[in-house]
Parts: sequence; C-alpha cells; structure tokens
Amino acid sequence: MKAFSLVGVLLVLAGSVFAQMPTAAPAPATDLPGITSQNIADVKPDATQDPGYASQSNGQRALVQPGNNAPMWRQVGSGVAGYSSLPASQAPEAGVLIQPYTQYPGSRMTNAGEAWRQVRNNILLPYGGAMLLIVLGAIALFHWKIGPLKVKESPTGRMVERFSAFERSAHWANVAAFVTLAVSGVVMAFGKFFLLPVIGSTLFGWLTYALKNAHNFAGPLFAVSLLIVIITFARDNMPAKGDLNWLLKGGGVFAGHEIDSGRFNAGEKVVFWGGVFALGLTVVISGLVMDKLLPGLTYERSTMQIAHMVHAASNILMLVIMIGHIYMGTAGTKGAYDGMKTGYVDETWAEQHHKLWYDEIKNSKTPIHRPPTAATSASVQPVQV
Ligand code: HEM
Repeated sequence: MKAFSLVGVLLVLAGSVFAQMPTAAPAPATDLPGITSQNIADVKPDATQDPGYASQSNGQRALVQPGNNAPMWRQVGSGVAGYSSLPASQAPEAGVLIQPYTQYPGSRMTNAGEAWRQVRNNILLPYGGAMLLIVLGAIALFHWKIGPLKVKESPTGRMVERFSAFERSAHWANVAAFVTLAVSGVVMAFGKFFLLPVIGSTLFGWLTYALKNAHNFAGPLFAVSLLIVIITFARDNMPAKGDLNWLLKGGGVFAGHEIDSGRFNAGEKVVFWGGVFALGLTVVISGLVMDKLLPGLTYERSTMQIAHMVHAASNILMLVIMIGHIYMGTAGTKGAYDGMKTGYVDETWAEQHHKLWYDEIKNSKTPIHRPPTAATSASVQPVQV
C-alpha cells in the first residue's frame, strides 16, 4: 500500500515538472529589439580580405570576428580624447588615456610614450654612455702619451692676478652645483648598469631617491651661477684675431710650443661659447621645463618627453666638454688650478700660456693687475712688471 502511494507521489511530481517545461524552443535573441546574438566561434576566415577591414568600427569588426577589439584599442591608442571633469588649464590631457602615434628621432612610429622610451634606452643611454667612456679614455691616453702642459721656465715667484675673488666665487659656486648635478644625473641615467649590481636594489633605490632630490635643489643654483659666470667671463671670451690660427694648430700642443693667446685661448673660448653658454643654457631651460617652471607653456606628456630628450642629449655633450675643461684645469695644465684657487699665477705661467694677455698687463693696457688682499695666500706676491 505504502509502495503504491510513493509511486503515485513521484508520478504527480514528475508530471508537474514536465508541465512547467517549455513546449517550444526559445525565441532567437534577434527577435528582441536592438540585441543581436553572437557566436564567438563564428569567425569569417576571409574577413581580412574585405577592403574596408582596416577601417571597421568595433561593432562592424565584432560581426565578422567576434571578440576582436582591435578597432577600439586602435582608437584609444590614437590619442583620442575622452571626457574628463578635471579643468583643462590644470590637466590638459586628463581625457587622453594613451598619447597619439609619434616618431621621435631614432624611434619607431608608435605611441609617444613608447617612442620616448626607445630614444632613451636605444640611443641616448648607449651612445651617450659610450661617448663619455671614449672621452675619459682619450684623456687618459693623452695624459699618458703627451702629458700635462708644463711651464718651461722656472717660476720667478712674482705673481700676476688672474681671477678676482668675485670671478672665483662665481666659478666655484657653479662648480659645486655642476658636480652635484653631474653625479646625480649620471647615477639616475646609468646607475642601474654600474651601481645596482654592486650595492643592491634597496640601497640603490634609496640613493637614487636622495640624488634625485639633490638634483632638483642644485638645478636652480646652477641656473643662477651659470648666468653670473656667463656675464662675468663673456667679455674676455669674445673672438679675437689669432683665434682661428690657434684652433687650426691645436694650440701648438702637439708641436711642443704654445700659440700666443689673450686672457683665454681659442680652446677655452670654444668651451665657453659651446659648453657653458649654448649647452649650459639648453640644459637649464630644458630642466626648468621638466620642473614646470617656465610660464606660458602647456605642460603635456609630449612636453616632458621632448624636454627630457633635449636635457639628456645636451647634458651628455656638456659633460663631454666639461670633462675636457676639468682635465685642462687640473692635471692637464700645471699651475692652472692654483690660479682659480688663489686668484694668482706665476709670471712665467702667464707668459707661456697667455702671452698676449701677459704683454697687455706689462704694457698696462689691462687693469686686472691688482695686489692680493689679506684674504689671498700670504705666499702670493703680486708682480710689478
Ligand atoms: C671640477 C670642475 C671644474 C674645475 C676643476 C675647473 C677649473 C677651472 C680652472 C683651473 C680655470 C682657469 C683656467 C685658466 O686659467 O685659463 C677655469 C676657468 C673657467 N671655468 Fe672651470 N672648472 C670646473 C668646472 C667648470 C664648470 C662646471 C663651468 C661652467 C659650466 C666652468 C666654467 C669656467 C669658465 C667660464 C672659466 C673661465 C675661462 C673660460 O672662459 O674658458 N668651469 N676652470
């Protein structure tokens, strides 16, 4: 009895379930207005042959190649501007997710960010780094084979004032900022190749962070002191008769006798106008752009990328020139460093390295001949020529 009633209940339940099942197949999605069903396996193999394939919208592409969102990403990558509620004056590119396609010198035609990365990693760093190493090597070779410029006559002990206290202060303030910038810049650009493997990522990260801040603080000091240096030394670096001859003969260094020059020789003038004036100002201006300090500019990502490439390239060239200057001002010319340190050089030094300037002093045409003050070294005695 019990068994019969259980079978009966099951039959009733099964009947009600079957009664609720739909009797016909579901209506296709196309019947619903605005909705098209898609089968992602339904790829048209010859879709790419369509002449309009490349210009299809994402919707058109989905009909022939379901799931292929290339048109949408191409549109995003083309630098299309979407909506952003941020004010355009403060965030001019906030609605642009990816910058448009660009080709920077030496990069492929690609998104600007990637193009900038290619220029930095494939051109600036390897070629710039190689250039710095080549210059260091060439200077070492020159020092080894030819050696420093020496004064042939014995020093007389009579001293000539070469640089005033003001000139030296401006120069050394500029040097302090330059060295800070050069060391921090080199570590930021090349440190990952020569420091990171030695000191490890924790210390390298901390060091680079500290140097980046030092770079930002030294920048404005360099900008101001550079302007003072340029104004201070411009007059005596003006081109003069004999400069071309000096350059053509390489200053006479290889011939064993120096070509006569004024207060600064043509080599120093090239360093001044090329390295200090042109490259120095380029480095400063591009640095100020990266700090967003120049008024009137629209600061977009491309502004930063271009400023960075100009900054890096001009810095490497400036470093190359200044390495030469530092060598000639220290180990390369005996007695030159003392001139910038104390302000005075021996009479024989002046006569051998800057004959025309020395003659001017002797003929009292140059009012630079001043006695030392108490601040200058007691051992220094001005010459009465
Ligand atoms: C460690 C770094 C440096 C050292 C040791 C150094 C050394 C010297 C020395 C010894 C002189 C005197 C040369 C002479 O008597 O004819 C000199 C001149 C000069 N230095 Fe430097 N210097 C350094 C960096 C710089 C930097 C960074 C700048 C500017 C960016 C600079 C700009 C000048 C200028 C303008 C002169 C005057 C001579 C000229 O106009 O060519 N120096 N330096």
